[in-house]
Amino acid sequence: MSSKTLYGPFKQLLTMNGLPLKGSLKDEQLEILTNAGIIVQDGKVLDLGSYSDLENIHSDSEKTFNNNSEQIALPSFIDCHTHICWGGNRVNDYSMRVAGKSYLEIAASGGGISDTVTETRKASEDKLVELILDRAKQHLQRGITTIEVKSGYGLNLDDELKMLRAIKKANEKIAVRLIPTFLGAHIKPKDFDGSHGEYLDFLLQEVVPIIVEEKLATRADIFVEEGAFDIDVARIYAKNLKLKGFDVTMHVDQFHPGGSKLAIEEGSVSADHLEFTDDESCELFGRSETVAVALPGASLGLGMQFTPCRKLLDNNACVAIATDWNPGSAPMGDLITQAAILGASEKLTIAETLAGITFRAARALRIEEGILRKGDEAAFTVFETDDFRNIFYQQGQLKPSATIIGGDSFEF
Ligand code: NIG
Ligand code: FE
Repeated sequence: MSSKTLYGPFKQLLTMNGLPLKGSLKDEQLEILTNAGIIVQDGKVLDLGSYSDLENIHSDSEKTFNNNSEQIALPSFIDCHTHICWGGNRVNDYSMRVAGKSYLEIAASGGGISDTVTETRKASEDKLVELILDRAKQHLQRGITTIEVKSGYGLNLDDELKMLRAIKKANEKIAVRLIPTFLGAHIKPKDFDGSHGEYLDFLLQEVVPIIVEEKLATRADIFVEEGAFDIDVARIYAKNLKLKGFDVTMHVDQFHPGGSKLAIEEGSVSADHLEFTDDESCELFGRSETVAVALPGASLGLGMQFTPCRKLLDNNACVAIATDWNPGSAPMGDLITQAAILGASEKLTIAETLAGITFRAARALRIEEGILRKGDEAAFTVFETDDFRNIFYQQGQLKPSATIIGGDSFEF
């Protein structure tokens, strides 16, 4: 029998168990075990509950983390929308934006995403692996153990495949779980000779079959926006991807409303951004299975309004929160800071914010994570504090002291 490890004692252990997938939450609904511990065996949660009971029942276990009573633990976090595979940087865009040019104006004049495409095409696959690993390690220190990573800065056959292969390689080299998403439909690249519809056909006919063959991704994303793809071509693309067995997700309503209706109609697993989502769409989310993903890092990066999370939750939507970490709109990448600021601005309860970066973020990726239960993979993070609410109260300044994923334990 393999060895057991007893983690704790934790003054508070939040399980996130027993909460609804959709709609508003009160902090009183959170399950908080006090003076608690977790038994881990073979990378899984064997048992959890009262520390002294666990000490008795599992007297053969090895104790760890038992030198600090002022610590709490909770499921580790999930960042369900990032673009952390990129080359170069976009500080020039930043200086133009703060001097008054808009994100869409910079894109329309040939900069923005296209600049990152140029730099990412120049980078080798190994260089991209190195860059992804560096960013994923930063996320691990923030208590994040699952990260969605999009392609979308290659925008031709070779460079989209290079990005997805780099994500796959990076995933094999780090304990953090990386979930790839094909975003060949980020924008139509400058060097593609044809219409937007023809570009999407090229992706479906030339790129997607290789992605399927090499098992590089089972999720695909499209940016529905002025200057990117319109609703009509996006609908055809989404239908075709679903026929090929892909989960579809979409960047919608970032600057104009409308795309989220398409995402819901097409059964997208998530619809992300939503800064300009209108009341009617907020209601539609409440009646759908599509997760509404707020990206406060993009609002902060571009100096724009936040996603109407309060309205979405009050309409019974499933709301997740992610960083959108990318070199253009969201260079910060700090999930807790961003979730805390969004929560303060949108009046989200701590339970709603926590749900948005744990099991509701897992739902956006259609994975079962973000809850601490017996039998699940051990994925939790530890903070040196006596009250879990300090995580958001301190707006990202309180950092995890350790993160556990499977059999691996990382102390910071
Ligand atoms: O989610 N809006 C589209 N895509 C990214 C930004 C990509 C970039 O600017 O490099 C986003 O904001
Ligand atoms: Fe994005």
